[in-house]
Amino acid sequence: MLAGKRILLIIGGGIAAYKCLELIRRLRDRGVSVTPVMTRAAEEFVTPLSVSALAGEAVHQELFDLTKEAEMGHIQLSRVADLVLVAPATADLMAKMANGLAGDLATTLLMATDTPVMIAPAMNVRMWQHAATQRNLALLQGDGVTVVGPNDGDMACGEFGPGRLSEVPEILTAVERHFGGGPLAGKRVLVTSGPTHEPIDPVRYIANRSSGAQGTAIAEALLRLGAEVIFVTGPADVAPPKGVVLRRVETAREMLAAVEAALPVEAAVFAAAVADWRVRGASDSKIKKQAGQLPSLEFDENPDILATVAQMKAGRPALVVGFAAETDDVIANATSKRQRKGCDWIVANDVRPETGIMGGAENAVTLITEEGAEDWPRMGKRAVAERLAERLAAALT
Ligand code: CTP
Repeated sequence: MLAGKRILLIIGGGIAAYKCLELIRRLRDRGVSVTPVMTRAAEEFVTPLSVSALAGEAVHQELFDLTKEAEMGHIQLSRVADLVLVAPATADLMAKMANGLAGDLATTLLMATDTPVMIAPAMNVRMWQHAATQRNLALLQGDGVTVVGPNDGDMACGEFGPGRLSEVPEILTAVERHFGGGPLAGKRVLVTSGPTHEPIDPVRYIANRSSGAQGTAIAEALLRLGAEVIFVTGPADVAPPKGVVLRRVETAREMLAAVEAALPVEAAVFAAAVADWRVRGASDSKIKKQAGQLPSLEFDENPDILATVAQMKAGRPALVVGFAAETDDVIANATSKRQRKGCDWIVANDVRPETGIMGGAENAVTLITEEGAEDWPRMGKRAVAERLAERLAAALT
């Protein structure tokens, strides 16, 4: 998919610039030609010699280099590529791009190009969160620039948070996706996420504590692998990912209807925490408080969306994945849940309070498949999503 493409790689001046060496290697492994451009600051972090040795091409550094102007003007240089990739994109470079400054070769190329531009930002967490950077980011996205990352994590400056350059495989996946590739290109995948709200009356409802974080991370990971993602979400805390086909619902019955409307899909991942019951005869008007009287609620069982889809006779997705949150006998309970519901895989997690998983940033997962139980090491929820998406891609291809 990438073979034969040409990328103009603009390397900004940040500590993460060293990752570009690996990025160039991996791009070239895939048959991509890399034309490197370095800002002056980038030369403080990696040498032009290493960059040109790995790229197999001279590094372009100077705007006013007469020999090169004669051979290849900077306008032409900006047009030779199929994609302009800026990595790392520093706060300074993003600000210049957003405001149309063109004081050096890199920024002039970015102004002159008629080629799609992708940036992989990397900077200190406070610089990333600064209102100016976030403003510039919004401007760049509005201009059609694709943004990869940044990731959360420990940073070279000793702080923790968003600002780390995306890992090389993530940048590669984004590039593949840009060219319409990725292992899930052309595949439709459904993801349910978040809680459902079951009304008691127009102002009150029954719900649960799901934030939607894991479902959102899974949708993002699937998008990165090139899938078309239909994202059916209840009222979650975290914002839905950009780039999905978004279906917002409130109740379990609405979620089932949205899921059925989204079929057929190649795979479906049911990460939503669906309320098992709804209030029988929910009132159309607000239930008024009456002295000395307590309302009593009766319940009806909600449809089991996962089981409904997993047990479809016709049009069942090739792969149906459910979740199980367990506090006891995780593997035994999740294994029998897999059979009961008829799904292919169950992602089980141990949510005993002492694990710190519920509401935390990490997850410890056991994947239950037909072959048995597979314990995954404890890792971030994003990493769980990546791994699950990769497994899913392997199973579908
Ligand atoms: N699920 C669903 N529709 C429901 C209930 C659950 O699609 N009405 C899905 C969830 O999205 C999840 C899995 O089924 O993939 C969880 O099953 P569930 O039986 O609710 O398991 P737990 O929440 O783990 O609860 P319990 O232990 O009570 O079975």
